[in-house]
Amino acid sequence: MIQDFVRRLGIDHPLLLAPMAGETAKPALAIAVSNAGALGALGGAYMAPQALRDAIRAIRAGTQRPFHINLFSPQPWSADQTKMAAYRAELGKAHAELGLGAPDLPNTYQESFEAQFAVVLEEAPPVFSTTFGTLTPDQVAALKARNILVIGTATTVAEARMQEAAGVDAILAQGAEAGGHRGSFLDSVEHSLVGTMALVPQIVSAVKLPVIAAGGIGDGRGIAAALCLGASAVAMGTSFLLAEEMALSPGYKALLQSERAESTALTRVFSGRHARGIRNAFLDRMAGRDDIIPDFPVANAMSKAMRGAASKSGQTDYQSLWAGQAARLARPEPAAAIVARLLAEARQALQTRF
Ligand SMILES: Cc1cc2nc3c(=O)[nH]c(=O)nc-3n(C[C@H](O)[C@H](O)[C@H](O)COP(=O)(O)O)c2cc1C
Repeated sequence: MIQDFVRRLGIDHPLLLAPMAGETAKPALAIAVSNAGALGALGGAYMAPQALRDAIRAIRAGTQRPFHINLFSPQPWSADQTKMAAYRAELGKAHAELGLGAPDLPNTYQESFEAQFAVVLEEAPPVFSTTFGTLTPDQVAALKARNILVIGTATTVAEARMQEAAGVDAILAQGAEAGGHRGSFLDSVEHSLVGTMALVPQIVSAVKLPVIAAGGIGDGRGIAAALCLGASAVAMGTSFLLAEEMALSPGYKALLQSERAESTALTRVFSGRHARGIRNAFLDRMAGRDDIIPDFPVANAMSKAMRGAASKSGQTDYQSLWAGQAARLARPEPAAAIVARLLAEARQALQTRF
């Protein structure tokens, strides 16, 4: 299964860069990973359609190898005015500390998925995935008609079955350890926190599709373990956050290499949707204030100015510091060296004999 899937993806190794939206979404890292024989990726969820098109074309210009584009499936949300007023007041305190004016209310909360999806169909990246939900049968058919391999994210066995029924080609099984936003869409996050070790073999047994393991896989030992659990490949996000090609703020990179990275938490405080990151002042201050945090993408749009200014000024207390539970295993290296090291470690771990 592993070799079949690797061949089908057109790559050399059963390793994918996990898609990461936001300041982490830059073509340079995707290009470097694809050129190293793994599957590069770009999280396009926050990109305007033209920026997404430009990024896909930039990746194509930088590599002949396959790559992967990811978007957020649209989900229901409401702009609750009472929550927004209370959340805005909390953001205001952070704005004052950062020397910003009072928080504005955004005109729009998110990019149009339909417009982004139209770009994906036109530009036809070799691999496409969504998180937060399933695609419609028409959308899956349109992707497949363009020879695009389709991946669906699942955080539970039930979600994996639903992705299979929706017609995807592979399942990305995202364990509770994963950094960034949770893909959960069927049940509450509290009821969808299955660890990678338990999730992967159960999804492998429940569906007929190749399964990509993700979440808390921090080095070659983790890759070896995931392959032993039946995964056909692994996807790693946090392990690439320290890559030289990753344009993260220096403060974020420094925290990832400190003991602070040993303590991550799931939080809605920055975006309105549960995501895992390194704990900081804003996260701790807002803990227990779930009742005032608006839905995703409302909170995400409202906190954007705070997060952006904090990132620029090096004030990590007000940034979303997305990271998975294996963050301390990440190392600052060029992406190609990370890929080579991970594969060498995995091969060594798989040779272990009892
Ligand atoms: C900074 C960051 C941003 C992320 N953005 C996305 C995204 O846009 N779409 C998505 O499907 N997953 C996103 N994720 C989750 C990853 O794709 C992947 O599931 C996760 O990184 C795997 O766990 P690990 O971080 O422990 O390797 C993000 C993760 C991180 C760390």
